[in-house]
Amino acid sequence: MLLMNHVSKSYRESRFFNKGNSMIRAVEDVSLSIKEGSCFTLLGKSGSGKSTLGKMLLGIEKPDTGEILFNGINVHKTTITERKKLQQSLQVVFQDCHSSVNPKLKIRDIVAEPILVNEKLDARQIEIRVGELLKMVGLSEEDMMKYPHQFSGGQLQRIAIARAISTRPRLIVLDESVNSLDVLVQISILKLLKRLQQELMLTYFFITHDLHVARLFSDEIAILHKGRIVEQLLVHELEHGKHEATKALLDSQLRIDCIHDHLELYEESKHEKKPVIV
Ligand SMILES: Nc1ncnc2c1ncn2[C@@H]1O[C@H](COP(=O)(O)OP(=O)(O)O)[C@@H](O)[C@H]1O
Ligand SMILES: [Mg+2]
Repeated sequence: MLLMNHVSKSYRESRFFNKGNSMIRAVEDVSLSIKEGSCFTLLGKSGSGKSTLGKMLLGIEKPDTGEILFNGINVHKTTITERKKLQQSLQVVFQDCHSSVNPKLKIRDIVAEPILVNEKLDARQIEIRVGELLKMVGLSEEDMMKYPHQFSGGQLQRIAIARAISTRPRLIVLDESVNSLDVLVQISILKLLKRLQQELMLTYFFITHDLHVARLFSDEIAILHKGRIVEQLLVHELEHGKHEATKALLDSQLRIDCIHDHLELYEESKHEKKPVIV
């Protein structure tokens, strides 16, 4: 469904004292292929180039070299008809649900916006479609008349998902889509995404720095390190990753688990009024 061939992208470093010569190599020589219906995860530390790759896939950023083909269409060399088709077929959910929705718009207009790029619908048709979409993501029809500030982060992320599926896309880029949420809310959103994937036969390009989330959600995982894919594994092979970057991710996750367990013991001990040695 999706093919990337030797894709690279550099940015000019934009620091105040920079004379404008040095470049940041955000993505370097990335090649990958994604099967229809799968969940492909890009896992890597902050700054490893994940969002840049996601934006190139969506056509928001242009690669310096290489090409990205979606069902045979080069996403950076399209005719107007192909561009419209891609706008409908490729959607995105970003991390920060607060800044990705316009606070002045009603939920109805936020969710309907991508539909109206390609389809002409009257007010009644829009409300029927938006009502259906809100129900699909676990919200109610009445929510369409409310404004973003009336919702929690998790609910706003559901609204962003309703908006993303409104055009009946084939592939959705999920860029750290659950990372700003509490763990329990994260899990409920991941479950929703899994259900929608099956119901709508979606393909996901999932971007995360969180190994736990990657493990819960993915079929295949590519480890991105300094702009390069250094290892590609099926989810059950992750523990056997050989590259230093994969090992570092596994190791840091272990340490987080350890701190988490200790904190839980500490919380329990507070209730029991007994000291716990950790
Ligand atoms: N618009 C930009 N201008 C300059 N540098 C950028 C820009 N976008 C990203 N970068 C740089 O490219 C590298 C990769 O960034 P990014 O793709 O956002 O990584 P990630 O999503 O993995 O955190 C970083 O060093 C970042 O500072
Ligand atoms: Mg990012």
